[in-house]
Parts: sequence; C-alpha cells; structure tokens
Amino acid sequence: MVALIAATLITAASVSLSYRSALQGSGDALKLMALGVAVSLEATLSRMEKGRETLFSDIITEGRWEGLAFIALCDQQGRTLLHSNVHLINRRMPDSQISQVAEKGTPLHDYTTLGTGERVFILYFPVHLPEGRAILKLALHTYPAEKILREARTQAALISFITLALWVMAFFFIRAMKRSERMEKTIAEREQMAVLGEMASILAHEIRNPLGSIKGFAQYVMEQDHLRSRQYLDIIVAESQRLETLTEDLLRYAKPEKTSPTVFGLLELAEEVMYLNRTAGPSSNRIRLTTDIPEGLTIKTDRDKLKQILINILQNAHDALSECSGFALSECSKTALDGHSETGALINISATEVARGNISIIIQDNGPGMDSKTLGSAMQPFFTTKTRGTGLGLAIVGKLIRALNGYIELQSEQGRGTTIKMTFPKETT
Ligand SMILES: Nc1ncnc2c1ncn2[C@@H]1O[C@H](COP(=O)(O)OP(=O)(O)OP(=O)(O)O)[C@@H](O)[C@H]1O
Ligand SMILES: [Mg+2]
Repeated sequence: MVALIAATLITAASVSLSYRSALQGSGDALKLMALGVAVSLEATLSRMEKGRETLFSDIITEGRWEGLAFIALCDQQGRTLLHSNVHLINRRMPDSQISQVAEKGTPLHDYTTLGTGERVFILYFPVHLPEGRAILKLALHTYPAEKILREARTQAALISFITLALWVMAFFFIRAMKRSERMEKTIAEREQMAVLGEMASILAHEIRNPLGSIKGFAQYVMEQDHLRSRQYLDIIVAESQRLETLTEDLLRYAKPEKTSPTVFGLLELAEEVMYLNRTAGPSSNRIRLTTDIPEGLTIKTDRDKLKQILINILQNAHDALSECSGFALSECSKTALDGHSETGALINISATEVARGNISIIIQDNGPGMDSKTLGSAMQPFFTTKTRGTGLGLAIVGKLIRALNGYIELQSEQGRGTTIKMTFPKETT
C-alpha cells in the first residue's frame, strides 16, 4: 500500500513535470523557428531591392518554411509595407505591439486569434533595412506545437489510467486478501471450537454422572443425619451444584447453535431477566436495575438465546457491583450512568432501533470496570478474575451473538463502569 502510494506520487510528479516541459518546449520551438525565419528574411530583404512585393506571398505559396500563417513588414507607425496577402499592402493596421517593438528595438512574441478562428503565434522582429528600420511580423500556425502538447496529454492520460487501474486492482486484491484472511480465521475458529466442543461435551458427560450420584447421596445422608455432618454435606451439595452449572455451561458452549426465531417485545424480556437478577444474590437489594426500552419495541430472533445473553451480562454487572456495593460503598459506584443523574450501584438496560433495521441493546453498569488487559481477554473462554467463576459467561455470550448474526462491543473504564453494546438484526430468519 505504501509502495503504491509512493509510486503514484512519483508518477504524478513525473507526469506533471514532463507535461510542463512539453508545454515550455512547444512554446520554445515556435519561438526558435520564428526567429530563424525572421533572421533569414531580414538578410533576404536587405539584399533585394526590386520585386519585394511578391516575396512574402511566394514564400507562403512555395511553402518554404512549414507552418507559416502570414508574413508582414510594417513601418514603425504600423503601415504594411509588404504582406503575404498582397491586398493588405499599404494599409494601416493599428497594433500596439508594433509601436512597443519600434520603441524598444527588441523582438516580442504573442498569441492571437485570426479572423478564421485559428490561434497563431506571432513574432514582432525589428529589422534594419537599407531604407530604414521596420518591423517584421511573422505568424506561425501552432498545430505542430499543439501536436507535441496533445501527445504529452495523451501520455499523461495513459499513465493516469494505468495508475488508476493499478489502484482498482490493489483495492480488489486487498479486499480479497482480507476476505480470505477472515475466512481462514473463521475456519480456524470453527476447527478450534469443534475440538473444544467435543472435549467439553465428553468432559461434561463424564462429570455429570458421578456428580449426580454424589449429590444424590449427600442429600440422602443430609435427610437422615440432621446434625453432625450437616455442615460438610452442605458443602458437598453446594460444590456439586457448582460443578453441575459448570457442566451445563460447558455443554452450552460446546453445543452447535440452532436458532428458532420468534417475534417478542424487548421490554418484557428485559423485565424478565431483571427479575431473575434481582433475586440472584445477597447484594441484589443494593443494586438498582432500570430500563430505557420503548414499549412496543419488538425483535424477531431466538428468544431463549437472547435471554441467556442478557442473563450472563447482567450477572457480570451484578458481580462487579457486588464487589463495590459491599459493606463500605467504595469509589466505584459513584458515577451516574448515561442519561441518569443518580449514583449508587446501578445497572441499566436500554434498547433502540438503529439504522438499517438493526436493534441495539446496551447494558451499562457503574461498577469497578476493567483494566485494558482484562477487557482484552474478557470474551475468551475460561478467562476469569473471579475465585468461583468459570470464565465461560462472556464466551457463551459471544457464541450466541454470532448465532443470532449480531455483534458485540465492550467498553470499560476502571472506576467508572462497563458498557456492553450489542447489535442484532431486527429480523432473523
Ligand atoms: N460488567 C463487568 N464489570 C467488570 N468486569 C467484568 C464485567 N463483565 C465481565 N467482566 C470481567 O470479565 C471476566 C470474564 O467474564 P465471564 O462472564 O466470561 O466470566 P466470569 O463472570 O468470570 O465467570 P462466569 O460467568 O462463568 O461466572 C470476568 O471475570 C471479569 O473480570
Ligand atoms: Mg460471568
């Protein structure tokens, strides 16, 4: 890409340079030719005493010098002494350039348009003849010079076209490369997922059976033996339940996702998951859950999967806020959420319809937030900063979001909180 930009700049500079030198070269060529003709005519005129009247017309008709449009010899007042068009001899033709050349005694050149509409190059050349000073006026056709310019322009257009074609090719090449890179990544991810999934489901099944027996027996003994071993049995049951959740998560993560979309209201779903979250833990009554979802906003997608996504994200926000809304309310829940004024431990779910028929769902908390390293790894399977976490919560979220054709963006700032934004198509088929 850098090489292409550099090549384009160099080409543009060289094209503009060569065009400019062609422009200058064409002007110089005309000037040189006119001067050559003028010097030679001055010599001829000095030698001739008779028969001058037809000299210029003869030169034009014989085509002695290619490109001559007309020749005139004027006195210092602008009267034509000789002209290639003999009818114009002895006429006064007002021309400010003639008086200028007569005054300064140096040649002058200019471009002018003839009555025929043709643009010509004109040289005013002071000559010294036996009878006194006069001015030679030579008009040259510009088409030979224009030919050089046309060629330069064609060359510039060709080079620009080639450069443009190179850019178009580079654009498609880069796009194809990026697409193949993405495909390779997806394939690698799928392969990884397949292996991981297989391992996870084997592991989950292997754990599930003995676990069922352990939990069952513990519960049975607990019912029999009321006092002595109750404390230990409580631990066995709680830990078995934890393992049970882990195996469920593993299976959920490993399972290939099939979606069955239905149309449902987002506010209703949010209230459902908020209710589950409110009853989730000891610090629940300290956390305020709010929604900003327009009534009647619907989406067509897999309800169970979206519900699971919201549950997992709300659980994380809840966990994060429990950390700081413990007994001493620390720094972390002091910031207000976007569009809200109150502080304290807060979680807000908002949803809106955005451009191109998409729905955006944002879950915000004003918990402790994440440092950049945690933020970078949060979606990875088995990444956790919690003593009793599995690290599968957000990995499952990621997987489910992919299954619903959505995407997720995580933003977090330490001490200010976390914002998770998800975008889903309004209708999944
Ligand atoms: N809202 C949040 N605020 C602060 N940190 C968060 C938040 N959400 C996620 N995290 C960080 O991301 C990590 C990964 O989250 P994830 O849900 O995948 O696993 P977990 O919550 O640790 O475990 P599990 O979900 O299995 O209980 C968390 O351990 C935590 O460090
Ligand atoms: Mg979690």
